[in-house]
Amino acid sequence: MAALSKESAVAVIGAGTMGAGIAQVAAQAGHPVYLYDVVGGAAAKAIEKTAAALAKRVAAGKLDNQDCDAIVGRLTAAETIEQLAPAALLIEAIAEDMAVKRDLLAKLESIVGPDAILATNTSTLSVTAMAAGLARPERVVGMHFFNPAPVMKLVEVIRGMASDPGVLDTVEATAVAWGKVTARSRSTPGFIVNRIARPYYAEALRLLEEGMADPPTIDAIMTEAGGFRMGPFTLMDLIGNDINYRSTRSVFDAYGADPRFRPSLIQQEMVEAGWLGRKTGRGFYRYDGGAEMPAPSAEGPVDGEVIPLPDGWERKPVKLGAIHLIPTDGRRAADIARAQGASVAVHDLRFDGASRRVVLALSAMSADERRGVVASFQAAGHVVTVVPDWPGLLVMRTVAMLANEAFEAMLQGVAEGEAIDRAMRFGVNYPRGPVEWGRAIGLGRIVAVLDAIRADTGDPRYRVTMNLRLAARDAAAAG
Ligand SMILES: NC(=O)c1ccc[n+]([C@@H]2O[C@H](COP(=O)([O-])OP(=O)(O)OC[C@H]3O[C@@H](n4cnc5c(N)ncnc54)[C@H](O)[C@@H]3O)[C@@H](O)[C@H]2O)c1
Repeated sequence: MAALSKESAVAVIGAGTMGAGIAQVAAQAGHPVYLYDVVGGAAAKAIEKTAAALAKRVAAGKLDNQDCDAIVGRLTAAETIEQLAPAALLIEAIAEDMAVKRDLLAKLESIVGPDAILATNTSTLSVTAMAAGLARPERVVGMHFFNPAPVMKLVEVIRGMASDPGVLDTVEATAVAWGKVTARSRSTPGFIVNRIARPYYAEALRLLEEGMADPPTIDAIMTEAGGFRMGPFTLMDLIGNDINYRSTRSVFDAYGADPRFRPSLIQQEMVEAGWLGRKTGRGFYRYDGGAEMPAPSAEGPVDGEVIPLPDGWERKPVKLGAIHLIPTDGRRAADIARAQGASVAVHDLRFDGASRRVVLALSAMSADERRGVVASFQAAGHVVTVVPDWPGLLVMRTVAMLANEAFEAMLQGVAEGEAIDRAMRFGVNYPRGPVEWGRAIGLGRIVAVLDAIRADTGDPRYRVTMNLRLAARDAAAAG
C-alpha cells in the first residue's frame, strides 16, 4: 500500500471548519495544498486563520518557526475551481447536501487527471450514491475526518459499492502517512463511529427518562466508573443537542426506524425549547455564569458495621457478612434475593476495577444491613451511589448496548472488529473498543444483561444481534 508522494498536490474543497483543518493536515504532511471555496475570499481567510493559529503554537514553543512558514507556504487559496486540476487527491468538505456534492464531483471529474482520487468528508451521506452518475465512480471514496481535523487522530476510510480497492489502499496509506489512525468502513448510515456511539447517548437518555438517575449522577457514573472521557450529558451539551438529535434521527430514519436508534423525546423537547447546550447557555446543564454545576448524588458518610470487602468482589459473587454481593449480570437484586433467600447488593460494571465510585442496587433489607453495606464500601475508600434496582444498571447496560451495536455492524460487514475498536478509541476516546470490552466482560454475560433488560422492559431495542449470541455460545463451548 503506497501513500501519495509528498510532491503530489492535494486539493480541499470547502474552506469551513473541516476543510480548513484537513488542508492544514495535508500541508503539515508536506503536500502542496490548494484550498477552494465557492465564497470568494473564504479560502484565503481560512489560510490566514490557520497561519495565526500556527503562529500561536510557535509563540508557545510548540512549533518551529521555519516549519510554520513551510506549512503556511504550502497552502494556496485557489480562486477558481480549475486551479485544482493538477491535484492527485481532492477532498470535498462542502455543505452536507447530496445534490450539491454530486454537482461538485461531476465538475471535478471534468477537470482533473484520469488517476486523481475524489474523496468526500461526508458524515451522513452515502458514498455509493454520491459516486453514481460519474464516469469513473471507482475513484470515489470517503475520507471521514473528525473535528478538529488537525487534532483528532481518526480517519474513517469509506468504501462505496463502486470504490476501487487500490484507491482505498492509497487513501488509507496516505492518511497513515499524515499521522492518522484509520478504520475501514463500508458506506452505511453513520459509518462506524456515528452509528456505534448512538447507545452512549441513547441509554443515558433512557436512564434519565426512566428516572434511574439525574444527568450529573449519570455523567459521574459513566466517567468515574465507566472510564469514559466525558459523561453523555456533558458531551451532548458540548456537541449541541440539535446536532446530536439530528444525527440520531438520520441514523434512525436510514435504518428504517429500527427501535435501537429511536430518538429520545427528552432530547427532542430540549431542541424545541432551544436548550441546545453550551452554545445557547443552557442544555442539560446551565452555562450562564452564575449557576453552579449540580453535584452527582452519593451516600453521605454512614455509620454502620464495617466488614472488609472480600478479595475478588469486583469479579465474582461474594458474601459481605450475611449480604450477597453480586456483579451485575442483568438480574435484579430483588429477584436474586427471592431466589437465594438472602439480602443482595448488585454492583455495576467498573472499567478498571480501580475507580472510587461504586454503584449499587439493593434488595429489600433492614436499615442496619443497608448501613453496613454502604459503610463497608466507604471504609474501603469508595464513593457509593445507590440506584433503583433495575436490570443491567448503568455502565453495564451502556457497554452491553455498545458491544451489541458493534457485533451487529460486524455482522452486516460494515467493518472488522479491530477497526471498530480503533475507531471508537481514536474517534471518540472510548477507554476500550466495544468488541474487546465485550470479550473482556464475557460475551455470555453481555447477552444475559441484554436479555434481562429486554424481558423486563419489553423493548425490542435490547434484542441481541445474532452475531453476538452465536459468538457467546461458541465462546462458552470453547470454555
Ligand atoms: N463539523 C463537523 O464536526 C464535521 C465532522 C466530520 C465531517 N463533517 C462534514 O464535512 C463537511 C463540511 O462540514 P463543515 O462543518 O466544515 O461545514 P462548514 O459550513 O463549516 O463549511 C462548509 C464550506 O463549504 C463551502 N461550500 C458550500 N458549498 C460549496 C460548493 N459547492 N463548492 C465549494 N465550497 C462550498 C461553504 O462556503 C463553507 O465555507 C460536511 O459534509 C460535514 O458533514 C463535518
